[in-house]
Amino acid sequence: MTIQDEFISTVSHEMRTPLTSIRGFSQTLLTSWDRIDDENKKKFIKIIEDQSNRLINLVENILTVSKTKAENIIYKKVDINTVIEKVITMISEQYKEHKIVFNKNVKNNISRLDEDKLQQILTNLLDNACKYSSAGSTVKITSDSREEMAVVKVQDNGVGIKQENFDKLFKKFSRIENHLTSTTQGNGLGLYITKQLVEKMNGQIDLESVFGEGTTFTVKFPNYNEEEALKCSQKS
Ligand SMILES: Nc1ncnc2c1ncn2[C@@H]1O[C@H](COP(=O)(O)OP(=O)(O)OP(=O)(O)O)[C@@H](O)[C@H]1O
Ligand SMILES: [Mg+2]
Repeated sequence: MTIQDEFISTVSHEMRTPLTSIRGFSQTLLTSWDRIDDENKKKFIKIIEDQSNRLINLVENILTVSKTKAENIIYKKVDINTVIEKVITMISEQYKEHKIVFNKNVKNNISRLDEDKLQQILTNLLDNACKYSSAGSTVKITSDSREEMAVVKVQDNGVGIKQENFDKLFKKFSRIENHLTSTTQGNGLGLYITKQLVEKMNGQIDLESVFGEGTTFTVKFPNYNEEEALKCSQKS
């Protein structure tokens, strides 16, 4: 099986589950409407809504996967801190009960990057940090500049990841079982996309984690330098 065939068969499998559930609950509602009480009607419609969201998320991620390959990176001078602030505003809207703290260790953290891609990277990391930690907990994001690298850390006090699963995380469609994976939505594509995008912009992504205590993801990008930036844009 080629990688492409494998991708298609995995995607079809991932789509079948929510679609079967949407069809099943719609049929039940249509054929037994008068026999179902209001509470159950609401419950079934909620399942249809959740599963539809799951499909939308999957399609968006698949589009990104195919775009990551074809699309060129558009390098511009970006202040990473400004992008972080934007991402925090969006994510905190979704995770209202988490406390997101931003430690800005340098005033301006300028690199030559693709702003949209950077936003996507940070959104995925911050989304995971909130998703895999309990409501009410704190997520810390730190922006730094060290040894000619721009460094961003996303730290949570969540479920953590066992060392043996570190490599698996970045693979397509792989989710790791924990007590929050079963109650949260996800396709296991976020970190796969994130790693691809980071590396495409000559960056590096690492993680440290203690199972049951929390996880820190670190991304590093070469700091802005006219000569290097020119080389990067010629490469892409
Ligand atoms: N901060 C984190 N803490 C604990 N586990 C994590 C964290 N980030 C990722 N993981 C684990 O890694 C797996 C892969 O993450 P990834 O972002 O690729 O997928 P996802 O969040 O499950 O789905 P998607 O991002 O596609 O919606 C997750 O299912 C989860 O088990
Ligand atoms: Mg994710």
